[in-house]
Amino acid sequence: MSITGNRGMGKTSLLMKMEEIARKNKCLVFRMSNYESLVNNISELTNYLILGLKNEFYADASVQKKVMRLGEWATTLRPVVSYKGASLSFEEKRLAAQTILRNNFLTFWKKVEGEYPAVVLLIDEAESLERIEGALSFLREVFQRLSHEAKYMVVLCGKLNFPERMSESFSPLNRFFPASPLTAFTEEETFSYISKTLKSVNVVTDDEVKKKIFEKSEGHPYVLVKVCNIIFNELEDTENKITAKHLEKARVRIIIDLGKDFFNPMLHPVSPKAKNIAFQLLKIGKRKFIFAEAVKSTNMKRQDVAPYIQELVRKGCLNKPERATYEFFHQLFIDFLKKRASEV
Ligand SMILES: Nc1ncnc2c1ncn2[C@@H]1O[C@H](COP(=O)(O)OP(=O)(O)O)[C@@H](O)[C@H]1O
Ligand SMILES: [Mg+2]
Repeated sequence: MSITGNRGMGKTSLLMKMEEIARKNKCLVFRMSNYESLVNNISELTNYLILGLKNEFYADASVQKKVMRLGEWATTLRPVVSYKGASLSFEEKRLAAQTILRNNFLTFWKKVEGEYPAVVLLIDEAESLERIEGALSFLREVFQRLSHEAKYMVVLCGKLNFPERMSESFSPLNRFFPASPLTAFTEEETFSYISKTLKSVNVVTDDEVKKKIFEKSEGHPYVLVKVCNIIFNELEDTENKITAKHLEKARVRIIIDLGKDFFNPMLHPVSPKAKNIAFQLLKIGKRKFIFAEAVKSTNMKRQDVAPYIQELVRKGCLNKPERATYEFFHQLFIDFLKKRASEV
């Protein structure tokens, strides 16, 4: 499967929960994250997966106790050292890597199938694989063939584009990695999060405060947790009830801290031109707008605006809820942009 969602939506948290569940069920788990600089092409991806699985296997104490025939195991998973003949075409290299990965994983499974109910690969930040030509379809082909003979479970997780592209709705990639988009918490979920968390420290609050927090955070998990954290810190040692007073005291801090920890790091990788377009879009005066309004606000040609809008979508600043319609991802982000625009 694949899990998609904007920054701070809880993708990594969910993947960690999956890891916990899979381990509880005695699966062998390899969770991939922070590999972006190490994996730049398909053969590096192949090596990374093979070595990663090998490490996980050796790190698993329960197996180590049982299997001391290390020599035999050491040769089970073999990375691609190099292809004979460096002059292979892209397609040939890809096929070679496919065969190597599939054979390795198949042999590995045959050896461990008595030990584990399944091998689980959790791939975080998979948008960095999406940027490598053919990497996702490479994984699909490898695991599709393996699925008949071995039990591998693969979860791709990230700000993925493939499930959103209209033309790809019916593509094999979408069918093999059916996408589950993570959306914001509902009001009930937000209320329940606040109540549960406060209960653990014997603090109370009322529904009015909870409602304000929900409205402010829009149920965005990262924003919600941050907002709650700041409000909680406004409590004096002697107090055990959060009221509107604490909300008010926290107001400025919320803007400053979210800007520093969340919105600024998000805007930072955006190109100067796209950033400028983002500032222009504020002139529309609406959170949600259509492409024609975006064009008008920038005074540019349609075809010149489009790539920057796309960049803003790709980097999570804008959402695209439906065709030709865009939306700033959070109201507090609009406030942050306004402040930034006034400083320029
Ligand atoms: N189910 C959840 N319940 C409560 N808080 C959550 C939940 N999921 C995410 N969060 C909060 O949101 C923050 C960001 O989540 P994270 O998993 O890092 O998002 P992503 O990987 O999508 O950017 C977490 O550090 C946590 O504080
Ligand atoms: Mg993450």
